[in-house]
Amino acid sequence: MTVKHFLTLDDLDASTLQKLIDRAIELKNLSKQGAIYQPLKNKTLAMIFSKSSTRTRVSFEVGMRQLGGGAIILSPNDTQIGRGEPIEDTAKVISSMTDGIMIRTDSHEKVEILAANSSVPVINGLTDDYHPCQLLADMQTFQELRGSAKGATFAWVGDGNNVCHSFMNAARLFGFHLNIATPAGYEPSEAISQLNSEHISLSDDPKAAVENADVVVTDTWASMGQEQEKNEREDAFDGFCVDQALMSLANTDAVFLHCLPAYRGMEVSSDVIDGPQSAVFQEAENRLHAQKALLELLLA
Ligand code: CP
Ligand code: NVA
Repeated sequence: MTVKHFLTLDDLDASTLQKLIDRAIELKNLSKQGAIYQPLKNKTLAMIFSKSSTRTRVSFEVGMRQLGGGAIILSPNDTQIGRGEPIEDTAKVISSMTDGIMIRTDSHEKVEILAANSSVPVINGLTDDYHPCQLLADMQTFQELRGSAKGATFAWVGDGNNVCHSFMNAARLFGFHLNIATPAGYEPSEAISQLNSEHISLSDDPKAAVENADVVVTDTWASMGQEQEKNEREDAFDGFCVDQALMSLANTDAVFLHCLPAYRGMEVSSDVIDGPQSAVFQEAENRLHAQKALLELLLA
């Protein structure tokens, strides 16, 4: 039997993704009603974190518990991964004892090697190139607030990073248009732009990008691993802060999204992220519900 992994959104087809979002909303409602639903009894998810995390860690651990199973956290420092045990061997060993592996690391290729050697589903909890789990929560949030994303306009203002790449794939798979505004030199990957060319527009103009947008989304200017570029990036991203003036150029009911953690006064102003158009905490909570739907699909 072939094992189903979730390394990018493209590991699921458009109709499965839509069903997953519908299911996430259903699981959220069930959970709010206090229903107990435990299809993953006695199942264990191993979680490998080579980078920090609050949302991903809590949502996967709580999600596994609510579904009747459990999760264990492995950090490279206190496992043999940090001492150089090959990723292939690590995959074979961990997958022989667990029912799924969630990994957050730098290189996307490492996650592909892990998946190729794993006998259980592997879930990408963020790499330098993608953050597909974030997009499940983001699409759930949009659907809850505005219905289907088909035909909608989203605007990405900021760095052409991992989250941006997953948004670009989402634009194709969920049928919306994504206007991307980045400073020169911080554009998203050319290959991913090519793949999604019919669903994205690229520019260096935040004002043009947010025009007619139903959603305005941004992320930190310096992702994990880019800490030493922080000052240089602050200069390069001058003019890219999502503030009230920029939001006022989008549709009047435009939703503001941010995967968090956010840096107020940098990529977003406090009055926007803490203001009435912001859905960032609903978005963060939806990490739990969307990933429960994913765990049910892959592990049950
Ligand atoms: N959005 C997100 O992935 O948050 P964490 O880094 O806290 O997991
Ligand atoms: N782009 C950010 C997302 C954090 C959830 C990073 O990679 O650090």
